[in-house]
Amino acid sequence: MLKVFDSESEIGSALRRFRFAIGQISIISAVLNILMLGGSFFMLLVYDEVLPSRSIPTLVGLLIIITIVYCFQGVLDLLRSRAMIQIGALVDREITPRVFDVITKMELRRREMPEGTQAARDLDAIRSYVSGSGPLALLDLPWVFLYLAVLFMFHWTLGVLASIGVVVLVAIMLAADRMTKSATMKATQIGSSRSMLIEMCRRNAEVIYALGMHRRARQSWEDATAAFVRSTDRLADVGGRMQGLSKTFRMLLQSLMLAAGAALVIDNLASGGVIIAGSILSARALAPVESVISNWKGMTGCVQAWRRLDAMLKQVPAPMPTMELPPPSQQLSVEGLTLGPPGAKKVTVSDVTFTLNGGDVLGIIGASGSGKSSLLRALVGIWEPLRGAVRLDGASIDQWDPDILGAHIGFMPQMTDLFDGTIAQNIARFDPEARSEDIVAAAKSADVHDMIVKLPKGYNHPLGTNGGNLSAGQRQRVALARALYGDPFLIALDEPNSNLDANGEDALGAAIQAARARNAIAIIVAHRSNILTHVTHLLVMSNGQMQLFGARDKVMEKMKLPAPRPPRVDDKPAAISSAGAA
Ligand SMILES: Nc1ncnc2c1ncn2[C@@H]1O[C@H](COP(=O)(O)OP(=O)(O)OP(=O)(O)O)[C@@H](O)[C@H]1O
Ligand SMILES: [Mg+2]
Repeated sequence: MLKVFDSESEIGSALRRFRFAIGQISIISAVLNILMLGGSFFMLLVYDEVLPSRSIPTLVGLLIIITIVYCFQGVLDLLRSRAMIQIGALVDREITPRVFDVITKMELRRREMPEGTQAARDLDAIRSYVSGSGPLALLDLPWVFLYLAVLFMFHWTLGVLASIGVVVLVAIMLAADRMTKSATMKATQIGSSRSMLIEMCRRNAEVIYALGMHRRARQSWEDATAAFVRSTDRLADVGGRMQGLSKTFRMLLQSLMLAAGAALVIDNLASGGVIIAGSILSARALAPVESVISNWKGMTGCVQAWRRLDAMLKQVPAPMPTMELPPPSQQLSVEGLTLGPPGAKKVTVSDVTFTLNGGDVLGIIGASGSGKSSLLRALVGIWEPLRGAVRLDGASIDQWDPDILGAHIGFMPQMTDLFDGTIAQNIARFDPEARSEDIVAAAKSADVHDMIVKLPKGYNHPLGTNGGNLSAGQRQRVALARALYGDPFLIALDEPNSNLDANGEDALGAAIQAARARNAIAIIVAHRSNILTHVTHLLVMSNGQMQLFGARDKVMEKMKLPAPRPPRVDDKPAAISSAGAA
């Protein structure tokens, strides 16, 4: 069973904070269950006292008392289900930020874990179970013994019959659990890969249509959907069979109780009221068991979601509080840096060592697959080193809080992706306190200001999920502006000029010069040599190794590359893809 109070479980400890509230809810449950005896005693008294005495005042008195009891019961019921909804919402609020960490960091680490967004669905499943009637049914379960005890007090035959009923229902419940456990897990897995498939098709819709893959993609989707429906149908089928069985059994038991009561009355072993009161009480005794059965699917779903989410939360521990370090301003040093894609067991960059000081501009060149992007990812702290370190002003970058460090870094990945928001928000990295002049300055540095102001809504142009109809070059310039925003100390650009025209390249050159002038460090991965005009140092990668590093002209001399000259407008982009092999 689930260890709610497992000291290492974050969800458990979030729930533990509501121990007091859960204690109060348990007390309410106790009062409620005792009050629920009221109906049976009312019937007993009506049959055994009111009818023989034919006393209307007694009947009215009893009716008033039972009405008050029922009202009180209704209020308590409402209170406890509201309290559970609140607990669900509060636990959710506490875990939600961590789930976001898990989803985003899993993406960076690509560990062997369920699909990232599963964590969000798991939290939804936990909240919806906690806020529903499932946990209340569990709280009512121990009170079954009270009802059974009262039935035994009426007559042992009634007690035994009702106990058998409870045992049979529990057996049905356990059998249903056994039959559905693996099917539930499988259905979740199938559902998860089905949503991944549709997401991939949505992302690649253009390619799917242009390359005639539409039918094949649709077929995969149909197959995935059929598998998903099969798996959920199987679950629903087992659930339905079990529910049908328990319902039939309950009706049979009800009649058996009535018959047993009648037999007892015939034998003068009980009063007439016991027939009805016993039948009501046995129904009450079975109700919590039935309620647990009907919530069983939600409960097993919740337990599985909890286990998965807990495992994911353990994989991505909450960040330790970090010291606030002074902003980096002097040096980037890389020491014996070795790294590989997270989760994969291969090394894509090994033993890279170099130092850059403020005002240096490094160009990283090398053939495709030589490890340039991998190296850049480690320099900005996206991929953790396997060995070695990346230091800014002497402190390894993992000593910084990522959000604080991020403000000092301008990173532009090889594949530009913008967020759903306005251009201004994208450039300002969604900082709500961003100043307009900083946004405009970044846009001007990336030579994108004129393009932006020509758009119908200018800086407030919404980019939407599809990049707001900007061209690849325009998107790249907005991404460049985002990297330059806030004058970061370390600017790392992965092929920033791959989609730029001559003007864009000039602007990029000017931005690099401006960064140099304010003593920042810029690192540029480049396939096109034009950009090399602006670099002071060159690093040549080959097969994940640092082949050469040094002042630009010396390295170029060793590689026998022609010295770069300032680019002209009519320049054709020159490839340097063979550089790594030099
Ligand atoms: N996320 C990843 N998972 C697994 N392997 C990866 C991943 N990213 C890169 N690699 C591998 O690491 C090696 C280096 O890739 P990297 O992207 O660093 O090359 P690159 O020099 O930037 O190439 P390009 O010039 O084509 O951009 C390649 O062999 C690639 O297959
Ligand atoms: Mg690359």
